Amino acid sequence: MADKHARLTIDGKDFDLPILSPTDGPDVLDIRKLYGQVGVFTYDPGFTSTAACDSTITFIDGDKGELLHRGYPIDQLAAKSHYLEVCYLLFYGNLPTAAELEQFESLVTRHTMIHEQMHYFFRGFRRDSHPMATMVGVVGAMSAFYHDSLDINDLHQREVASIRLIAKMPTIAAMAYKYSIGQPFVYPRNDLDYAANFLHMCFSVPAEPYNVDPILARAMDRIFTLHADHEQNASTSTVRLASSSGANPFACIAAGIACLWGPAHGGANQACLEMLREIGTVDRIPEYIARAKDKNDPFRLMGFGHRVYKNFDPRAKVMKQSADEVLDLMGIENNPTLQVAKELERIALEDPYFIEKKLYPNVDFYSGIILDAMGFPTSMFTPIFALARTVGWVSQWKEQLSDPQLKIGRPRQLYLGDTRRDYVEIENR
Ligand code: CMC
Repeated sequence: MADKHARLTIDGKDFDLPILSPTDGPDVLDIRKLYGQVGVFTYDPGFTSTAACDSTITFIDGDKGELLHRGYPIDQLAAKSHYLEVCYLLFYGNLPTAAELEQFESLVTRHTMIHEQMHYFFRGFRRDSHPMATMVGVVGAMSAFYHDSLDINDLHQREVASIRLIAKMPTIAAMAYKYSIGQPFVYPRNDLDYAANFLHMCFSVPAEPYNVDPILARAMDRIFTLHADHEQNASTSTVRLASSSGANPFACIAAGIACLWGPAHGGANQACLEMLREIGTVDRIPEYIARAKDKNDPFRLMGFGHRVYKNFDPRAKVMKQSADEVLDLMGIENNPTLQVAKELERIALEDPYFIEKKLYPNVDFYSGIILDAMGFPTSMFTPIFALARTVGWVSQWKEQLSDPQLKIGRPRQLYLGDTRRDYVEIENR
């Protein structure tokens, strides 16, 4: 029962609306019975004021610039934890004991290979396909291979499907990359940790040994950790909407990958590095700032702004520090893209347009610089985001399926089209 209530008056009639109080964040007006009792819909394109579900996984305080996973701040997790531990935390709800972590890691590790027949799927794509296109197709195709984890009503099958997705996504992303550059696929190595194995699958070739640099593996792991989950963002909401119809987990995650691809969402990391390279030198920054502010120019500063953060994105702070560390450790001095990024950030943060609109760098602003330094082409940036976000998607998917009140997601509309009219024969039009 709600302790607080709101009163809505329409045409002189009063209606009572319960107000639900979260453990943190703003109160939520419960309008579930609104249409049944009052006969009106609410109108909120883009969900700017709408909570589409309840959740216990991730919390963002956009004004403070705080991101918590199961209550733990992202900067603490990035500094002290590692990706698979964060996966456990997101998926099961608590930090694991040493024994639980060991068991989880070995479970994920044992699922890293994909069905051999799936290799033919990759070969069906053009070599110049974007790896995200390949991933949408191949992850969707997992529904055709893992028939023993498709029953969403079976708790064990839900868990197996989730583990399979977390474990196989690096393999699929690396294979999409290898295919795009015409190199042989590299099988996973279960003696390496999650991030090191991914680097190995991307950068080793059968012709010579490849030793994964532990510093790069740590940086890769941190990038995965920073992307692991982010509350009800567009791709997560897509996964939830797809799953609300009872669709199988692989189909739902493929839908999430498709949504993530857009440049307003996960595709921003690729778009951001391409923008920084296009700017090229610091003297050209004012021209691009002016374009970003021009209402008649569709150009936006990629890697800037966020629907929820009206302060620094805490992930961007860690990412910036990591970019400095990685470039330093790799002996890359005076990286021109990093110089442009830092100067662009400085100028934008002092500009009244960006100050008034509370536009700050987001997670995508610095990640591309690190990935580029590691040797990834820009087309791999969003697939890396997708593989890291998979744990968030499956955790939210599992949470949604456990909700006894789950209903199919079915938004309504404000209809502005023609009212009823009679068909006119073609000769009379
Ligand atoms: N450059 C210039 N102006 C901007 C930018 C930007 N990057 N972002 C927002 N604005 C302006 C926008 O024009 C609008 O101005 P006005 O009020 O005068 O119309 C105002 O700020 C509010 O923007 P909005 O588009 O209404 O805000 P939104 O919450 O719908 O969009 C966003 C959020 C992230 C899509 C948007 O800020 C954006 O397009 N940023 C660039 C793309 C990007 O970096 N995306 C990654 C987001 S973080 C990672 C992820 O979610 O995947």
